[in-house]
Amino acid sequence: MRPPRLDGTVALVTGASSGIGAAAATRLAAAGARVFVTGRDPDRLAAVADAAEGTAIPCDLTDPDLTAALANRVLDVAGRVDVLVNNAGQGWAGPLTGMTDGQIQALVAANLTAPMLLSRAILPGMLSRGAGHIGFVGSIAGRLGVREEAVYAGTKAGLSVFADSLRKETTGRGIVVTELVPAVVDTPFFVRRGRPYPRRRPRPVTPDQAAAALLTGMFSGRHEVCLPRWMYLPIMVRATLPATYRRLADRYG
Ligand SMILES: NC(=O)c1ccc[n+]([C@@H]2O[C@H](COP(=O)([O-])OP(=O)(O)OC[C@H]3O[C@@H](n4cnc5c(N)ncnc54)[C@H](OP(=O)(O)O)[C@@H]3O)[C@@H](O)[C@H]2O)c1
Repeated sequence: MRPPRLDGTVALVTGASSGIGAAAATRLAAAGARVFVTGRDPDRLAAVADAAEGTAIPCDLTDPDLTAALANRVLDVAGRVDVLVNNAGQGWAGPLTGMTDGQIQALVAANLTAPMLLSRAILPGMLSRGAGHIGFVGSIAGRLGVREEAVYAGTKAGLSVFADSLRKETTGRGIVVTELVPAVVDTPFFVRRGRPYPRRRPRPVTPDQAAAALLTGMFSGRHEVCLPRWMYLPIMVRATLPATYRRLADRYG
């Protein structure tokens, strides 16, 4: 499914130089939005911006000053942001004791602090217009926890509760806050985090399927979208039958 026509709107997509973010930017542009894309790799970002006839603004979101400057730049140029897709994120796999201070700080900054800073910067305009869509790309890791991904899972859990709380804060004011909770998406994410995806299930979906699920959820007012849908099941079991969930998780990982 495609989002509704978005002519005349402005969208900012983070992590748009690759994977889910690139697919989301492409879909938003196809729906008529004026798209601003950000990421670190200038060449991949420029290619996505060209295809979307959008604007590339390279930015490392681990730096809060650069993140603030990114939001200001988009608002200066476009005057508004109607659709904010907080998608950028990085993983790290391995024991917690193997992580450096810098690696921990980078994950928290890119995955959690940056979406908070961008949302805060963009929200006043949305509130004054009484309309806006803010999407967050979380992870099943943030709902269930994953062995040897403690910091990554922690950032995604924080992002999920941030999204939930922001939704409560803005209820009735025209703002739609949606979290995509993907399990496995076939992107360079796993190579980059240093460990390939080790299981057969859940099966990876394509980045475009993930982007479509996010945008469909955002523009139909959904609070959260699990991908695949059956991942709601372990989330519900963990919430309602924690001891059973722990036994199953110990057995099946
Ligand atoms: N793939 C999965 O199975 C999966 C599952 C659950 C959740 N997710 C989440 O989905 C989101 C998108 O990931 P993906 O799968 O599409 O992976 P990806 O292909 O590796 O894309 C990640 C994107 O985030 C950007 N990014 C990472 N760190 C950044 C930083 N410090 N500053 C600015 N941009 C940064 C990357 O920019 P550059 O490429 O320019 O560095 C890239 O555009 C992430 O939040 C990830 O946690 C992915």
